[in-house]
This record gives sequence, C-alpha cells and structure tokens, in this order.
Amino acid sequence: MNVTELHRIDRTVKQWLQTSRNFILAKMNENLNVAEKSSRKDLVTNVDKENEKLLISKIRTFAPDSQILGEEGFGDQIRQTKGWVWVVDPIDGTMNFVKQRDHFAIMIALYVDGQGVLGYIYDVINDQLFSGGPEIGVFQNDERLAAPKNIGLRDGLVSLSGPMVIHDRFNFQKVAETSSGLRIYGSAGIEITHLLKGEIVAYVSYLKPWDFGAGKILAESLGLAVSTVDGQALDMLSSDFVMVATVQAQQDILPIIGSNV
Ligand code: IPD
Ligand code: CA
Ligand code: CA
Ligand code: CA
Repeated sequence: MNVTELHRIDRTVKQWLQTSRNFILAKMNENLNVAEKSSRKDLVTNVDKENEKLLISKIRTFAPDSQILGEEGFGDQIRQTKGWVWVVDPIDGTMNFVKQRDHFAIMIALYVDGQGVLGYIYDVINDQLFSGGPEIGVFQNDERLAAPKNIGLRDGLVSLSGPMVIHDRFNFQKVAETSSGLRIYGSAGIEITHLLKGEIVAYVSYLKPWDFGAGKILAESLGLAVSTVDGQALDMLSSDFVMVATVQAQQDILPIIGSNV
C-alpha cells in the first residue's frame, strides 16, 4: 500500500475515533448498563457494545471487503488473515471506565495479509491519540514520537498483569523486584502508550488479539520488542502471554522468567 493511500485511511480512522470519543463522552454521564462476562472482574457495558457497533459500521461502509475482529462479537469469525483485517477494542480498560470514568482507550488496528499497517490507541479522557505504523511513523496527537531509549530492567519501571503478580506467575515478583518499580494501570492500551513514550521499559500480561493488535504495530514501529513471554512471535488471532519491552529489558526479563514458563 502506498503512502498516499495510508494517509487517506489514517485521516478516515481519525474521524471515526473523534465520533467514537464524543459518543463515549456523551454516554458516560448516563446510567451505565454493566454486566459480568467470565467473572465479577471482567465487565462489559452497553457503551462497549454500542461503540463497537458504531466503529464496525464505519469500517463496513469504508472497506466492505474487510474482515473485522471485535471484542464484543459484532464483527466476523476470522480463521485466516488474508486481505484487510481490522481489530477493534471499543473500550480497553472497561473496569477503569466503570470505576473511574478515566484511564481507558479506544483501540483500532489494520492488518493487511497479516502485516501490521496502522494502529490507534486513543486515551479518551486525556484526549491523547497514539497513531501510526511502520510506513508513516508514530504520533502522539500531531507530534512525532522518537524511538524510546533502550533502557534495561534495572533502570526502568515495569507494568505487569495484577493477577499474575499476585500469583507470582512466571517469577513475576522477581521481575518487579529487579526493576526500578512496578506500575499497574489496568488498560493494556494505556500501558503500551507509556512504553511508546519511554516512561516504562516493559509490559507483560495475558492478552487477547484486540488487547495487543494496535499496540503491537505502534511498538514495533518504534523499535520495541513484541513477543510471547518466552520470546516467540505472536499469532495475531490467538491469545497469549505477551511481552512488549525495550530490546534490553526483554533480554533482562527472559532469563528471569526462564524455566518458569
Ligand atoms: C483488559 C485490559 C486489562 C488487561 C486485560 C484486558 P478490556 O481489556 O486491557 O488491562 O489486564 O487482560 O482484557 O477487557 O478492558 O478491554
Ligand atoms: Ca473486556
Ligand atoms: Ca482490551
Ligand atoms: Ca474492551
């Protein structure tokens, strides 16, 4: 895809994101309809569902031949990644949305024949949009981001999945202890934006494709390492234990996790 075409898609997706943000802001002040999915710690609201429908209808009008993978199930059943595949997480950090009305993001990714092309993480309340891809670079609103410094684990903050720290999965407490400090924000998208800005050096969590779809594209475009927790490539249609890190922090964390995988 040429750069002119990429910019045309980029402008269009940014318009959808503005509409989507305004929709969420308007709905946020009404009573939320909150339901449990797999447990009391896994929530979904009417706004998650309605926002996914809104974004999917925009995608279907713009690019009708695409496949769409959406968290709340209004997209397609996808078995292969040929052609255009959009990945949509209508609200990443639903628990934060419900409890804090803050610290959540809208996420959209576009993959073409399995390759990440464009990614979007939109911090709704702070109005900070992280966007771009390998061809056009990565931006925070209108400002181009430079590649974060390649800082190692000892000299940086890390963000880890809360339950995995509590249960010390994969030696996570040692990872946290070795770092300069542990931070847990509760939205995969927001955690990855901290990595893009160089504010943390690693994020490790169990993630589904819509949790990492956009972040993977943006992180790799800035030279960050994205892999499974044992250093393998990710399958964009599968859930996995995912590590996004500076190259140095990845090298520091892999031996600590080591045989605990
Ligand atoms: C969740 C958030 C959370 C992460 C979970 C995700 P959701 O996404 O990103 O930080 O720990 O694994 O499922 O359900 O709020 O979109
Ligand atoms: Ca969810
Ligand atoms: Ca999510
Ligand atoms: Ca979600």
